Amino acid sequence: MNVREIFDTMDYGPAPEDASEAIAWLDRHKRTFGQYINGQWTKPARSFASKNPANGEILAKISQASAKDVDKAVDAARKAQKAWAKDAKARARVLYALARLVQKQSRLFATLETLDNGKPIRESRDIDIPLVARHFYYHAGMAQLMDEELPGCEALGVCGQIIPWNFPLLMLAWKIAPALAMGNTVVLKPAEYTSLTALLFADLAREAGVPPGVLNIVTGDGRTGEAIVTHPDIDKIAFTGSTSVGRKIRAQTAGFAKKLTLELGGKSPYIVFDDADIDSAIEGLVDAIWFNQGQVCCAGSRLLVQEGIADAFYTTLKARMDKLRIGEPLDKCIDVGAIVDPIQLDAITALVASSVGDIYHAATPLPDTGCYYPPTLITGMSTADKLMQEEVFGPVLVATTFRTPSEAIELANNTRYGLAATVWTENVNLALDIAPKLAAGVVWINATNLFDAAAGFGGVRESGFGREGGWEGLQAYTKAKDNAPKLSKIAPMEAPAKAHVADLDRTAKLYVGGKQSRPDGGYSRAVWSAKGKLLGHAGLANRKDLRNAVEAMNAAKSWSNTTGHLRAQILYYLGENLSARGNEFASRINEMTGKRGGRAEIDASIDRLFTWAAWADKYDGAAKGVPLRGIALAMNEPVGKIAAFASDDAPLLGLISVMAPAMAMGNRITVVASEPFPLAATDFYQVLDTSDVPGGVVNILTGSHTELAPQLGGHMDINAVWSFSGSDLSAVIEREAAGNLKRTWVNNGKGRDWSNVDASAFLTASTEVKTIWVPYGE
Ligand code: NAI
Repeated sequence: MNVREIFDTMDYGPAPEDASEAIAWLDRHKRTFGQYINGQWTKPARSFASKNPANGEILAKISQASAKDVDKAVDAARKAQKAWAKDAKARARVLYALARLVQKQSRLFATLETLDNGKPIRESRDIDIPLVARHFYYHAGMAQLMDEELPGCEALGVCGQIIPWNFPLLMLAWKIAPALAMGNTVVLKPAEYTSLTALLFADLAREAGVPPGVLNIVTGDGRTGEAIVTHPDIDKIAFTGSTSVGRKIRAQTAGFAKKLTLELGGKSPYIVFDDADIDSAIEGLVDAIWFNQGQVCCAGSRLLVQEGIADAFYTTLKARMDKLRIGEPLDKCIDVGAIVDPIQLDAITALVASSVGDIYHAATPLPDTGCYYPPTLITGMSTADKLMQEEVFGPVLVATTFRTPSEAIELANNTRYGLAATVWTENVNLALDIAPKLAAGVVWINATNLFDAAAGFGGVRESGFGREGGWEGLQAYTKAKDNAPKLSKIAPMEAPAKAHVADLDRTAKLYVGGKQSRPDGGYSRAVWSAKGKLLGHAGLANRKDLRNAVEAMNAAKSWSNTTGHLRAQILYYLGENLSARGNEFASRINEMTGKRGGRAEIDASIDRLFTWAAWADKYDGAAKGVPLRGIALAMNEPVGKIAAFASDDAPLLGLISVMAPAMAMGNRITVVASEPFPLAATDFYQVLDTSDVPGGVVNILTGSHTELAPQLGGHMDINAVWSFSGSDLSAVIEREAAGNLKRTWVNNGKGRDWSNVDASAFLTASTEVKTIWVPYGE
C-alpha cells in the first residue's frame, strides 16, 4: 500500500477525550453546588439542573442564588476590598498563581467546559483555556505595574459581573482578571446553562491564595443577575450578553453612579474582495461562523462577497460546509459541537424558519440525539430582511454581494451593531483603507476571531461600550483619585425691581451649522447682570433645535477624517482670536457672574485651547505585543457626534473645556451653554466664525438643562452624551441613553475644578479604541 492509498482508505475514527477527572470532581461535590461566598460553599438551595447539551444528561444541580445570597456576597466583597486594594505587588503574585493553576489544571477545565457547554474539545483545549491563562498572566503584570504606571488611579470597589454561556471560563477570566488586578473585589454570576467551570475555578482559587471575600461566585438565572445589577452597594457592573438585557441594565443602573461596561451582540460583516486568497478566506469563514457553533458575539455572521467571485465562492463554501464533522464535543475529530441548550436550538430553528432567503444546510450527518444544528448558509435576502439584521447566535451565515469598496463599507455598516468586522484582500492598501471606515470595535485583516489579553475587545453602537483587555481595559476597573467638590446649582440673576435696560436690544441666537438661528419654540429668557442691568436675551432651545444641531453634525462628517495637524491649527487659531478679544469677554463674564474672575477665566480658556491644540496630533495609538506573527493596532478614533451640557459655573472655560477635546479628537459636538450665564457662549460664535471652524463641527444651544436632558439622552443619532451641568441630570441621561446604548459621561452630582482639568479623562471620553489585527508573513 502506498501513501496515497493509505490516505484514500483512511476513515474517520472517533478520538474521545477522557472526561473521568471532570466527572470525579463533580462526584466529589456530590454533583450539587451551593454559592461560593467569602471563600466558602453555602448549603445548596432552590437547585436546578445543569445538563450536557450533547446528550441531555444532568451533570449537576446548581443553586439559584436569592437576593439575600447576593447581599451576603456583596457584603463579603465589601469587607475584603480595602485590604485587597492595599498591595498591588501581592495581588500580582496571586494572579500569577491563578495563571499557573489554570495551566496545571488545563485539561480538567477543558473537559468540564466541553461537557457543560457542548463546544468541541479542540476549541476548549486549544483556545478557551490557553486564553484564560494568558489573561491572568497579562493582568498579573498589570497589578505589578499599577503603582508605577497608573499613579493617579485607584480601584472602584466592589464589581458585579454577569457573563454569558458561550465562553464560560474565558468570560470569567476577561472579567475578573482586570478587576482583581486593579484592587477590586468581585461578585460574579455565570450563566445558568454553564456554571460549572466557574465553580471549579472558585474551588481551586483558594489554592492560589485568593483571600476570602475577594472572589465570590453566585449562580442562578436572570433574577440573580438582576439582584446584582440593582444592589445598592456595588460600584461597577460589567455585563456580557444579549443587547436586550444590556439595555435593561443600562436603564436599571441609571443615576446610581455605578460604572458600567456592556459587551453585547453583533452581526459582524465578513468582507471578501475578489483579490482575496479564496481558500484562506473560506477557512477563515469556517472559523468566523462555525467556531463554537456560531454562538459567538463577534461571529462573522454576515458574509459580503464581491460580485465577480460570489458564485464560485458560494460553491466552494458549500463543499467545505459538507465536510464539517458535527457530533460528540468530546471527540477530538469534531469540528462543530452541540448548541448550548434546547431553548437556544429552538430559537435558532425558529429564526431560520422565518427566513425569506435560499437556505442551504450542510449535507453532513447530525447525531440522532442531543442539541445539534447543521451549518447553514442563507443567500438571496435583501439588506433589510430580518436575518440580515438580527443576531441568530447559531451556526447560520447570511450572505450577500457588493460591487465596489464603498458599497462594501455601506453594507457592512448597515446594522445597529458595531462589534467586529473581517476584511479579506491581498491588497494591504485596500485593507488598511477599509478598516478605519468600518463601524466596529475590532477589525481582523485576513484573519478572524483573534483574541489576546493585550488587545482591547469591545464594541460601538448597540454592541455596547467599554473595552476588555490591554491598557484601555483597565479604565473599566479604575477611577481617578480625586476629591471632587459637591455640585451646587447656580441660579440665574433675578430680574431686578428697577431694571436698567441698555439702549440697543441684544438678542443672542442659537448657533447651528455655522449660522445663528432663532430658537424654534420662539421663547427666550432675559439675562440680567448682578447689578440689575439687562445684558440680553438667550433663546430657549427645544427638541427641534437639537434635531437641527444633529443634522448639522451629520453634515460636518468630514471633520472626523481631517488630520490632527489641521485640527490643531484651528484650535490654536481659536485661542489667538479669543485672546484678541480677551478684555471684552472678561468684562462680560464679570457682569454676568457679579465676580471679578473674568480675566483669569479668559486666560485659562486660551490656555485650554492651546492644550487641546497640542493634543490634537499627539494622542497616538499603539502597536500591541500580541503573541502572533503580526500586530494588533490600537487606533484612537473619534466617538462621532457628542452632545454635552457645559458647567454652570465657568461660563466660557466650562464650554471650551468640553468643546476643545471633542474637536481635537475629531468629534462633532453640540454644547448646551451654562444655564445661568449663557451669553459668554453666544458671544463665542463670532470667534468660531472667524477661526475657520467648519459649520456644524461645533453647535451651541442655550436653554433649560433639565428640559433638554431627556432630549439629548434619548436622541437616537448621537453617539455620546456628557453632562457637567449644575443640575444633576445623571439619572435621566443614563436612563434615556438605553435607547441606542450611547456612551454617557455624567457628573453624578459632583462638581469639577475647571482651572485644573485632567486631560486623560477627556481623551478617553472623546475616543473609541479600535483594534485592527494585521497578521503577516506568507
Ligand atoms: P442573556 O443576555 O439573557 O444572558 C446573559 C447573562 O445575563 C446570563 O448570565 C443571564 O443569567 C443574565 N441575565 C439574564 N437576564 C438578566 C437580567 N435581567 N439582569 C441581569 N442579568 C441577566 O442571554 P441568553 O438569554 O442566555 O441568550 C439569548 C440571546 O442573547 C442569544 O440567543 C444571543 O442572541 C444573545 N447572547 C449574546 C451574547 C453575546 O456575547 N453577545 C451572549 C449570550 C447571549
